[in-house]
Amino acid sequence: MKMRFACVVVMGLVVVLGGLPFSSGAQLDPDFYNNTCPKVHSIVFDVVQNVAETDPRMPASLIRLLFHDCFVQGCDASILLNNTLKIRSEQQAQPNRNSIRGLNVVNDIKTAVENACPGVVSCADILVLAAQASSVLGGGPDLIFPLGRRDSLTANRKLANENLPAPSFTLTELNETFAAQGLDTTDLVALSGAHTIGRAHCSFIHDRLYNFNGTRKPDPTLDPTYLQQLRKSCPRIARPKTLLNLDPTTPDTFDKNYYSNLKVNKGLFQSDQELFSTPGADTINIVNKFSRNQKAFFNSFANSMIKMGNIGVLTGNEGEIRKQCNFVNKKSVEVDTGSLASESEEGMVSSI
Ligand code: HEM
Ligand SMILES: *[C@@H]1O[C@H](CO)[C@@H](O)[C@H](O)[C@H]1NC(C)=O
Ligand SMILES: *[C@@H]1O[C@H](CO)[C@@H](O)[C@H](O)[C@H]1NC(C)=O
Ligand SMILES: *[C@@H]1O[C@H](CO)[C@@H](O)[C@H](O)[C@H]1NC(C)=O
Ligand SMILES: *[C@@H]1O[C@H](CO)[C@@H](O)[C@H](O)[C@H]1NC(C)=O
Repeated sequence: MKMRFACVVVMGLVVVLGGLPFSSGAQLDPDFYNNTCPKVHSIVFDVVQNVAETDPRMPASLIRLLFHDCFVQGCDASILLNNTLKIRSEQQAQPNRNSIRGLNVVNDIKTAVENACPGVVSCADILVLAAQASSVLGGGPDLIFPLGRRDSLTANRKLANENLPAPSFTLTELNETFAAQGLDTTDLVALSGAHTIGRAHCSFIHDRLYNFNGTRKPDPTLDPTYLQQLRKSCPRIARPKTLLNLDPTTPDTFDKNYYSNLKVNKGLFQSDQELFSTPGADTINIVNKFSRNQKAFFNSFANSMIKMGNIGVLTGNEGEIRKQCNFVNKKSVEVDTGSLASESEEGMVSSI
C-alpha cells in the first residue's frame, strides 16, 4: 500500500512538472467562497433579479453567455475580454457578434461583488453564478456549480468561430461539436433545452423559411402554421432587428415545452428540430422523455450544466482573478510602450 501511495505521488509530480492542464491540482468546490465571500450567491442573484424586472430576456442572455464562454478554451471568462493590442476579442466572432448580451450586467455584478469582497471572486465564477440565478428566476432548476475557477489571460476568436455550433447544423455536426467538449448525447439534448427561454434574430432562420439547403423551399419539417407565423414576423426582405421567441408557447418560462414543441415540428432552429426529426436518431427517445417528465429534464439540465461548467477550468494559481472582467490585470508591454521605466519594473515582477 505504501509503495502504491508513493507511486501516485510521483505521478502527480510528473503531471505538475509537465505543465499539463489542471496541473495545479486544485479542485472546484461549491463552498469555495464560504470563508472569503460567503454572500456571493445572493449578491449575484440580487443583481440578476433586479435587471430581469425590466429586461425579462436577460436570464436567457446570461445562460447563453456561459455556454459561449465554456465552449471556447474552457469556462475562463475569455468571452468577456475586450479588444486590446494583445487581445482579439471573442465578442466579434461570428456566433457572438450582434447577439451576445449581458456584458454590462456581468460588470455590474462584478462591481457589487468587489464591494463586498475585493479581489476574491473570478469573472469565470460570476458567469456560472449568473447562470444559476437565471435558471432559478426563469422557474428552472437550481444549479449547484462547484466554484474556484480563475480567469484567463487570453481570448481566442478563432476557436470561438470554430467551436460554437450554428443553427443550421445537422445532428451529425451537433454531435461532433458537443463531443469535442466531452459532452454526450444526453448533454446535447438537455442543454439544447435552454432554448425554452430567450430570443433569436430572423437572420438565423431565413434559409429555413425561404430556401432550405438550397431548395428554394422551406424546411419540410416545419409545421405549416408555424411556418406562416414565422414568415409573417420574418419577411423575405430581411428586417435584421426582429426577434423571435425560441419557445413559442411559454417564451420566458424555463419549462419542458421546448421538447413538446419539437414533437409538433415547432423547433425554431434546424439544430433544434434535428433532435427529434432525424430518422433513427438516439436523441428522439430523450426528447420524448423530457417532453413527458419535467423533473427528468431539470435533473439532466442541472447535471449537464455543471458538466459544461467544468470544461477546461483554470484553478489554483493558473490565470488570475481579474479586477475588471473586460481586461486582464497586467497592462501588456505593447500597450505601455510610452513608459519604459515602469515597464521594465513590471517585467521584473512577472519573471519572478
Ligand atoms: C445545440 C446547439 C446550439 C445552437 C446551434 C444555438 C444557437 C443559438 C442561436 C443562433 C441563438 C440566437 C441568438 C440571437 O439571435 O441573438 C441562440 C439563443 C440562445 N441560446 Fe443557443 N444554441 C445552441 C445551444 C445552446 C446551449 C447549449 C445553451 C445553453 C445551455 C443555449 C442557450 C441559448 C439561450 C438562452 C438563447 C437566448 C439568448 C437571448 O435571448 O439573449 N443554446 N442559440
Ligand atoms: C458552506 O456554507 C454553506 C451554506 O452556509 C453550508 O451549508 C456548508 O456546510 C458550508 N461548507 C463548509 C465547508 O463550510
Ligand atoms: C468592451 O467592448 C464592448 C463591445 O464589445 C463595449 O460595449 C464596452 O464598452 C467595452 N468595455 C469597456 C470597459 O471598454
Ligand atoms: C455522438 O454519437 C455517438 C455514437 O452514436 C455517441 O456515442 C455520442 O454520445 C454522441 N455524442 C453526442 C455529443 O451526441
Ligand atoms: C442538404 O442537401 C445535401 C445535398 O445537396 C444533402 O446531402 C443533405 O443531406 C441535405 N441536408 C438536409 C438537412 O436536408
